[in-house]
Amino acid sequence: MCGIVAYVGPKDAAPILLEGLQRLEYRGYDSAGVVVSNKGLKLRKVKGRVADLAKVVPARFKGGLGIGHTRWATHGVPSDENAHPHLSADERIAVVHNGIIENAGELRAKLEADGVTFLSETDTEVLAHLIARAADENDSLEEAVRKTLKSVVGTYGIAVIDAERPGEVVVARNGSPIVVGIGEKEMFAASDVAALVRYTRQVVHLEDGELAVLKADGFHTFASDARETAKEPLTVDWDAGHYDTGGYEHYLLKEISEQPETMTRTMSGRLDERFHVAHLGGLNMDARETRSFRRVKIIGCGSAYYSGQIGAQLIEELARIPADAEPASEFRYRNPVVDPDTLYVAISQSGETYDTLAAVQELKRKGGRVIGIVNAVGSAIAREVDGGIYLHAGPEVSVASTKAFTSTSVAFALLALHLGRVRDLSPADGRRVVEGLRRLPGQIEEILAQGDKIAELAKKYADHPSMMFVGRVRGYPVAREGAQKLKEISYVHAEAYPASELKHGPLALIGPDMPTVAIVPDDELLDKNLTTLGEIRARGGRVLMVGHREPEAKLADDVIVIPKNEIELDPILLTIPLQLLAYYAAVALGRDVDKPRNLAKSVTVE
Ligand code: F6R
Repeated sequence: MCGIVAYVGPKDAAPILLEGLQRLEYRGYDSAGVVVSNKGLKLRKVKGRVADLAKVVPARFKGGLGIGHTRWATHGVPSDENAHPHLSADERIAVVHNGIIENAGELRAKLEADGVTFLSETDTEVLAHLIARAADENDSLEEAVRKTLKSVVGTYGIAVIDAERPGEVVVARNGSPIVVGIGEKEMFAASDVAALVRYTRQVVHLEDGELAVLKADGFHTFASDARETAKEPLTVDWDAGHYDTGGYEHYLLKEISEQPETMTRTMSGRLDERFHVAHLGGLNMDARETRSFRRVKIIGCGSAYYSGQIGAQLIEELARIPADAEPASEFRYRNPVVDPDTLYVAISQSGETYDTLAAVQELKRKGGRVIGIVNAVGSAIAREVDGGIYLHAGPEVSVASTKAFTSTSVAFALLALHLGRVRDLSPADGRRVVEGLRRLPGQIEEILAQGDKIAELAKKYADHPSMMFVGRVRGYPVAREGAQKLKEISYVHAEAYPASELKHGPLALIGPDMPTVAIVPDDELLDKNLTTLGEIRARGGRVLMVGHREPEAKLADDVIVIPKNEIELDPILLTIPLQLLAYYAAVALGRDVDKPRNLAKSVTVE
């Protein structure tokens, strides 16, 4: 959600913090601030973007210790006062915080009764005051932070500095990510490796309950009971170049265009042409165990959940195991019955989505067998699950998910093949799927080549206040994802329905003002889908059809024709034109494509 950066070392902290914040801005972006320690704490914070902050940070902001933050508001409106860092009343302690302090109201009331004046409406400011009090009574900042955190209920990733200890930063994690970056005689910390890769690729992820003390010459990590913990640094595969727009106007277009390569990486080394199987060593499961599951339950949030619906369909069709997907945010709250014969699959691009992580923890607590389909290596969900499939799609920077969505769908095809081939999926069908997967990247290139045409269509349809998306069975999650992409980046209202359900209610909405995007693949349901198009057109509705050929009768106003793959894999290709449609609609409407209003890239709060 929000972003944290911290630095301690021989260089000036301010430019490093600003650069890091810029890299994190995609995670949250309504206000930003930095504090640098140099004979006292020097603070600048503003409502607005990191670029606005950079304008008010003076060149004389010297000092080799500092922390910075980019915010996505939870407690209190976006404003200069509510922006982080927050200082204690004596301006000794500065804190930046991601997450939510649930007992902030109670803690604040006590502090106010003791005469503390608050300058912001945030939950975070209580931490600054409490740590300052504890720092007066303790010899180390580490101890002061530890003591304060004992009185706090909620989630946090925090970074703290003390004007009286100019050589150290203390960071701590509980439910909100903190990564320590190890440099040459300098140390970094951030909420996301994106802020670190320009300076170091050696990182350590903190676990929940851990705290770390960083000094220029090294770091120590501690469990909540103050025992020192041993951490093995991890080398990050991604470098700073992965976080550039690479000459594209927006990250979103770059990420849509990268899909031939990203899905090739997801498949790389995992397809076996000899036995027509998928090798998924990360699952940590032998054939006997792989055969033993009687159900598959998939959980994830937002687009990850929709890709889970595509996954459930693939698993049912190829492996003939009953499978379904559910939003992790719902699953975790309904006291789910956890079945020992079910394989649970958690999906997350970021690996940090709090609802998905909490659902995984609930499953594990009840003895469920959980695997992950995750993009961010070393992330909280990746560490929590029993095994899994990494996407290797590279960092996804634009808030709207695209390449992670298609890579997840490909990972599900691999999983379905794997589960299917230890059961009844024949070698011939296995070969059909393997060959189909191999064809996907080239076919995506063909769809991307239609970008100009789709841009024209997007302009034509973007000025409608509302759009309907429909699809049947395999096409329904595609429709849901198409509607999600359109609404989140263009702010055009979009609703997705199973095509079969239209006549049971939503047909009442159809008319000239509400065009329909219809997913009509060339499969066994083609005729049914064409009937639905006829029903829409009979009510004056306009139709933009996405499918494999022009319908014979004039059933659609516009058609995007895409290459055909195996019917089970077609949903992956059908998604691509809808990503482009949403992108070009957002551009036509002048939206902030990579940073849509009210959203943040990874949702690390409940
Ligand atoms: C939509 C989108 C979100 C995410 C969701 C889960 O474009 O990006 O709906 O898919 O917040 O995020 P991850 O996959 O990081 O768990």
